[in-house]
Amino acid sequence: MKELKKKILYSKEVIDRRVKELADAISRDLEGKEVVLVGVLKGAFIFLADLARYLKISHTVDFVRLASYGSGSVSSGNITLSKDIETDIEGKEVVIVEDIIDTGITMAFLRERLEKRSPASIRICALIDKEYRREIVIHVDYAGFAVDKGFVVGYGLDFDEKFRCLPDIYVIEEQDCDYPV
Ligand code: IMP
Ligand code: MG
Repeated sequence: MKELKKKILYSKEVIDRRVKELADAISRDLEGKEVVLVGVLKGAFIFLADLARYLKISHTVDFVRLASYGSGSVSSGNITLSKDIETDIEGKEVVIVEDIIDTGITMAFLRERLEKRSPASIRICALIDKEYRREIVIHVDYAGFAVDKGFVVGYGLDFDEKFRCLPDIYVIEEQDCDYPV
C-alpha cells in the first residue's frame, strides 16, 4: 500500500493540556462518588491511560471491545461486542471513555447496554467529537476536540490498524481512504 499523506492536527503538547482539562472537569463533577471508567477498545486505550492518571478522584477502570468498522474507514452500522465489562456498575457513576464519536451509533449501543445494569449515571467522555457526522443524537458530556472534516489517526486512533501509536493526532490528507470528507 502506498504511503498515506497526513498532516498534524493536534500536537502531543496540545493533547496533553486538553486531556488534563477533561480530567479536572470529571474530578470536579464526580468528587466523592464511586466512579468507573469504561474504555472502548481499541481506540481509547492511550487516551484512557492518560486521562486516568490525571484524575484526582479515586476510580476503577474497565473495558469493552466494540467494533463497527470492517477494515476500511466507513462504519458498517453493525456493532459487535467481543468483550464486556466485568465490573458491577449498579449504583455507580460510569464515565464511558471513547476515542471518537462519529455517527453516534456505537455510543447509543453501548449506553443502552450499560443502562440496563442500573448505574447511578452514565457520562460520555470523547477525545474527538465529529458532531457534523451524527446520525443519532448523543449528548457528549466531556469532549476533547471538535473535528469537522476528514479522517484522523494517532494517539490510539487507527486507519486499518495503523498509526495508533503516533503521539500526535493527524488528519489523513489524501483521500485514499473511503471516508466521506
Ligand atoms: P460511530 O459509531 O460512527 O460513532 O463510530 C465511532 C467509531 O468509529 C470510533 O470509536 C472510532 O473507532 C471510529 N472512527 C470514526 N471516525 C474515525 C476517524 O476519523 N479516525 C479513526 N477512527 C474513527
Ligand atoms: Mg472506537
